[in-house]
Amino acid sequence: MKGLILAGGSGSRLRPITHTGAKQLVPVANKPILFHGLEHLAAAGITEVGMVVGDTAAEIEAAVGDGSRWGMAVTYLPQAAPLGLAHAVLVARDFLGDDDFVMYLGDNLLRDGLVGFVDRFRAERADRRAPRLGESAEPPAARILLARVPDPQRFGVARFGPDGSLTGLVEKPTDPPSDLALVGVYLFDPRVHEAVRAIAPSERGELEITDALQWLIDRGHPVHHEVLQGWWIDTGKLTPLLEANRLLLEVLDPANEGAKVDEASQLDGRVVVCEDAEIVASTVRGPAVIGPRTRIIGSYIGPFTSVDRDCEIVDSELEHSIVLAGSRIENIPRIADSLIGRDVVVSRSARRPHANRLMLGDHSQVDLDQ
Ligand code: G1P
Repeated sequence: MKGLILAGGSGSRLRPITHTGAKQLVPVANKPILFHGLEHLAAAGITEVGMVVGDTAAEIEAAVGDGSRWGMAVTYLPQAAPLGLAHAVLVARDFLGDDDFVMYLGDNLLRDGLVGFVDRFRAERADRRAPRLGESAEPPAARILLARVPDPQRFGVARFGPDGSLTGLVEKPTDPPSDLALVGVYLFDPRVHEAVRAIAPSERGELEITDALQWLIDRGHPVHHEVLQGWWIDTGKLTPLLEANRLLLEVLDPANEGAKVDEASQLDGRVVVCEDAEIVASTVRGPAVIGPRTRIIGSYIGPFTSVDRDCEIVDSELEHSIVLAGSRIENIPRIADSLIGRDVVVSRSARRPHANRLMLGDHSQVDLDQ
């Protein structure tokens, strides 16, 4: 079985961070979202991966390389424009050949990974026994993963018949037929190639994988489903991104990987301090992770905070936030619920006149407390 990772898209809901970087490379718990996915695919035994890339191809390629770090061979498949998930399957036609594959949206994160899900499809596809009464003789053409969500309007949503069987899937419905949303991981056999060729673009101008699944169902090809137990997050916006960070930090094993922590400092709870970090006269209350070479001086780092490498936090308080590499925060009494990009400076000076002096990129958001 091959893997197909979708790592294109513009990341419009995470601007301005995504003006300069791919949304799939924003770190949660100091590791790019995409790397969590690659680890899950590797654990499920996937060694050949096609990576569909768009405008941020160079950055994705620089980060992932040939995939050997995960024991994989990664082939890059350029998608000229973000024309939909089913369009990505069209782009990957030659790479996929006639193999079964797992399609994985690079900004999705699943607590429990993919091993069980992938193995169940493999087992069904290999099953050559005679069907039991009421069972379809055909092996499944696809297997999908569903999750209960409070806001199904934001997703592809499953519809069921009176007997509980899956009868349809509808993309971003205003009147959702259930609260079961499509998670961004799909298993397909080669019959999907005919489906993605047959469907027309949706109202938002994209070839929807939801419509390709519907096409399979309508032609009587079995599409199996299962309901996810552990958490799943589509990280494309700030709030779910901070939530993913929180959930990953909550299961962190505390460790000092070679940081200097002075006597006036305190690490409480689940805290990881990486090599050559320095904690001086500060309190870090976990769950939190402090990246390599980052210096925390006279500061408080509160729960659910990830500070990436080469940052400096001086005389400040920070909690429930993500700070990307190379940023400096100085003399700020309290920052919370924030995502701070790379090489950002946030400081407070005594310069007069007193004023907020801002230089913000396009689509920045600032919420000042006074
Ligand atoms: C896409 C799919 C949708 C699915 C979601 C999962 O939505 O179209 O069916 O539920 O991913 O993350 P999009 O991210 O394009 O809004």
